[in-house]
Amino acid sequence: MTEIAISTEKLTRQFGALTAVDAMDLRVQAGQFFGFLGPNGAGKSTTIKMLTGLLAPTSGRMELLGLDFQSHPVEVKRQIGVVPEGMGLFERLTGPEYLRFVGRMYGLDKAITEKRSDELLEFMQLADREKTMIADYSHGMQKKLALAAAVIHGPRILFLDEPFEGVDAVGARLMKDILLDQVRRGATVFLTSHVLEVVRQAHEELRQLMRQRADIMKRIGTVKQTIVGLANLFGDDILSEELLELVDRKTNGRQPGFTKACRMILMEAQKSLSAREVCEQIQQRMPPVLVRHKDPLASVTTVLNRLVEYGEARSVLRENGRRAWEWVSDPAEDSSKMARA
Ligand SMILES: Nc1ncnc2c1ncn2[C@@H]1O[C@H](COP(=O)(O)OP(=O)(O)OP(=O)(O)O)[C@@H](O)[C@H]1O
Ligand SMILES: [Mg+2]
Repeated sequence: MTEIAISTEKLTRQFGALTAVDAMDLRVQAGQFFGFLGPNGAGKSTTIKMLTGLLAPTSGRMELLGLDFQSHPVEVKRQIGVVPEGMGLFERLTGPEYLRFVGRMYGLDKAITEKRSDELLEFMQLADREKTMIADYSHGMQKKLALAAAVIHGPRILFLDEPFEGVDAVGARLMKDILLDQVRRGATVFLTSHVLEVVRQAHEELRQLMRQRADIMKRIGTVKQTIVGLANLFGDDILSEELLELVDRKTNGRQPGFTKACRMILMEAQKSLSAREVCEQIQQRMPPVLVRHKDPLASVTTVLNRLVEYGEARSVLRENGRRAWEWVSDPAEDSSKMARA
């Protein structure tokens, strides 16, 4: 089941007679890059303020990371980062002072706070302005600093209210890189914009990133196949410890040769095979591998289940109701997740 990062139930906020947010039901999956769009006055900022505890809802419920916000405000706030509309920076501090303050406030260790703060300032190209008070920063510089402060503690959800507003192309590029980095490490990003183009572009970049990741995963699969093939030709002794780890992942496998044989049969088949068929092929092609197995069929089934656990194979149901296994050629299916974001 996919984890839900944000969910609201009939979330409502009124300002006197005006209903800014009206009974909103929202569900955002963990790891998603979520664009919250709408024209001026639609209630985007009001929603973000409620979701980050800056504004109390008039009625309704909200859950973040499975925790009820109203009853666990501190636990929730510790795990989120926010760049609010007005940024909320302490203008009498310098950039480094501010980031150090925020890091310490989140309970980060002093050394880690300083290291992250220096890295972020460097990355945002603010390092050379270390003596400038935030009040004297330009608008774009303030936006970049606000984002740095929002990610310093490694939040699980990042809320951004119009983050690119008034930021130049170079600054926006740097900010997007930070956002991609957050998504890459599994965080959820919730971003508001009244500029559809901004969100569309960010989504496209993320999709490309995920596609690249799928390619990399495919290449790892190919390397593994090659190693297994070589071992099959030249015998196990070509497998160094390192290679064994690559092929087997878990080094405590009692009979790596046996696992390898099952894996190879499955890889080469390019279709689903029942445990019996895998067993028969091993018997035909590599009979010595089976020697120590009193009940080869049961052993093959055990190994096939383990491959499913490793994410290398999947189990499918055939028309006759019998279970079969097939090799997972492309283990990264995340791209489809992004496509839905
Ligand atoms: N503190 C407040 N007091 C009274 N009305 C408010 C307050 N904050 C927001 N509103 C009203 O609530 C509505 C939604 O405002 P909100 O700032 O959430 O919109 P938005 O979608 O963020 O707009 P924008 O794209 O301009 O940032 C507006 O009609 C606004 O006037
Ligand atoms: Mg707004």
